[in-house]
Amino acid sequence: MRIPESKISEIAAAADIVQVVSGYIELKKAGKDYRGVCPFHGDKDPSLYVSPQKSIFHCFGCAVGGSVFNFVMRIENLSFVEAVKLLAQRYGIALELEKGDIARDDTRERLFRVLDLAQSFFVHSLSNDPQAQEYLINRGISKEWIEFLGLGFAPDSWDGFESHLSSSGLSVRDALIAGLLREKPSGGYYDYFRGRIMIPIRGLSGELVAFGGRALGAADPKYLNSPESIVFKKKNLLFGLDSAKDAIKKNGFVILVEGYFDQISLRIRGILNVVAPLGTSLTVEHARLLKRFSGKVVTIFDGDEAGLRAVKRSLPIFLSEGIEPESVILKDDKDPDGAINRIGTQGFQKIIESSQPMIDFFLDQLDAQYDFKGIAGRNQALEECLPVLRRIADSPERDYLIERFSSRIRIKEERLRRAVATNKFDQTSQSGSSKQKPASSLFDFPADERNVVRGMLTQQGFIERIAETGVLREIENPSLSRLARAIVSFFNERGTFDTRQFSLSLEDSEMAALVASWLQPKPEEDDLRPEVDGAIAIDQSLDRLRLKKLLRRKSYIQERLGKCASGEEEYNNLARELLVIGRRLRR
Ligand code: UTP
Ligand code: MN
Repeated sequence: MRIPESKISEIAAAADIVQVVSGYIELKKAGKDYRGVCPFHGDKDPSLYVSPQKSIFHCFGCAVGGSVFNFVMRIENLSFVEAVKLLAQRYGIALELEKGDIARDDTRERLFRVLDLAQSFFVHSLSNDPQAQEYLINRGISKEWIEFLGLGFAPDSWDGFESHLSSSGLSVRDALIAGLLREKPSGGYYDYFRGRIMIPIRGLSGELVAFGGRALGAADPKYLNSPESIVFKKKNLLFGLDSAKDAIKKNGFVILVEGYFDQISLRIRGILNVVAPLGTSLTVEHARLLKRFSGKVVTIFDGDEAGLRAVKRSLPIFLSEGIEPESVILKDDKDPDGAINRIGTQGFQKIIESSQPMIDFFLDQLDAQYDFKGIAGRNQALEECLPVLRRIADSPERDYLIERFSSRIRIKEERLRRAVATNKFDQTSQSGSSKQKPASSLFDFPADERNVVRGMLTQQGFIERIAETGVLREIENPSLSRLARAIVSFFNERGTFDTRQFSLSLEDSEMAALVASWLQPKPEEDDLRPEVDGAIAIDQSLDRLRLKKLLRRKSYIQERLGKCASGEEEYNNLARELLVIGRRLRR
């Protein structure tokens, strides 16, 4: 850790966890704590707790948790240092970083710098290229909007940006990481984007993180995007969200389109609550991100095969995140860009108002595709329904959907229910990204090891007591052992231990979540609360671990003794130790 601890405390004191979390999700007071719907999993109930007294958050549903920094790390997708910096900035606390972390942190800063340089280069090139300007004007984007959106042009040259970069003094390496340059096999570098309209892609706070490059003519590929980097992760980012987020909140829903130019066209014509994925299909992370701003999503798809595929792919993702999306299918136009240019803003708004639940659209498509009068058709439809239904947790919502699906495809509800419940193989294989569930309960750990490590966290003076016994080496569970070591070294560096301070220092998300879950036990874990009979339980566990250690040492000595000759020094020492152990074991 490189940020001084006093700074971390200062920032944590200013950045009140309830206030910070409220900036992202709605919290309601519940006794001493606050509760809200967890933004980190497909939650419908308020299972996320925020405790102002302990300065932690913890979700009983997906078991994430930790300090205000851990919350910001997760929700903004930042490193620990970045999260600390962000909050320092937000709360007006000056932060001079110590040397060590400049290196890592600097990579981001340097990437931003080289991206900004490229941005001004592209803007400048556009102003010198009538043909590129004409392309945009022809697509209905005025000069004012071009400027406002920061659209640019990468000239059709191998070394346009490359030579601009070399006169700027910024490093080639950063330009390579940002994907602006490529390395020639023969040595030297060349421009990655050539002869393309450059669309700036921005993060949630409006920071430039990447570019999308649209070919002027019919080049292949039509779009070239910046490669992923530490500032550009497609699965976590939606094009336009930075500019759309206020409008999304205000309108109470978000419109999801497919292309950059769809987003841009709608925006220009006054429909502001619009975002698009970055040429990838929708991810669980996208759905979660949207849910932070509104639970209501209207997707616009093409009316063709691709549109249907998009529905099948995205419906389960939305449902698994507790979103029931609405859909619009365009029939007379290729895409939203085409539609709004043809029928204007009001006409387009009518289309949006005519949206239908995506589930209905899904069922209509099945109806059109299969013949429900025959057994074969029903079975095929059933097959298609299963992946969708299996993505939804067993809940009243799922029961409701099963009812609707079964009546529509004319399959007995009971049969559908059974099919959903059995043979879940594809659920486990799909849920990779959404499952990162750490051990979620106190009960998930070996009880004695857990109690002892927990004692270190919650009992005054326990760390000193325990460090002498050497029992920490007996802890076999890797997560617990890691946590115990972290506690001891935190204590050793300071000579004291403060739980709050410790939890503020945790950069590792898994460890932070573990600590938070222990400080905020579930109701059914009440008997393990330290203030009830936890102290006794902890002492008993410590005794058992000690005993385990002695027994292990005893069998080791017995084994050694069998191997060395009596009278030797080692033999004598071991024999003496065995005697002592025997006496202690009898006690
Ligand atoms: P579309 O082909 O529908 O493009 O791809 P579009 O936005 O309507 O483009 P225009 O109107 O012809 O200019 C939808 C999205 O898929 C991604 C881009 O994000 C695009 O906006 N895409 C498409 C790529 O990343 N690469 C490609 O080659 C094509
Ligand atoms: Mn288009």
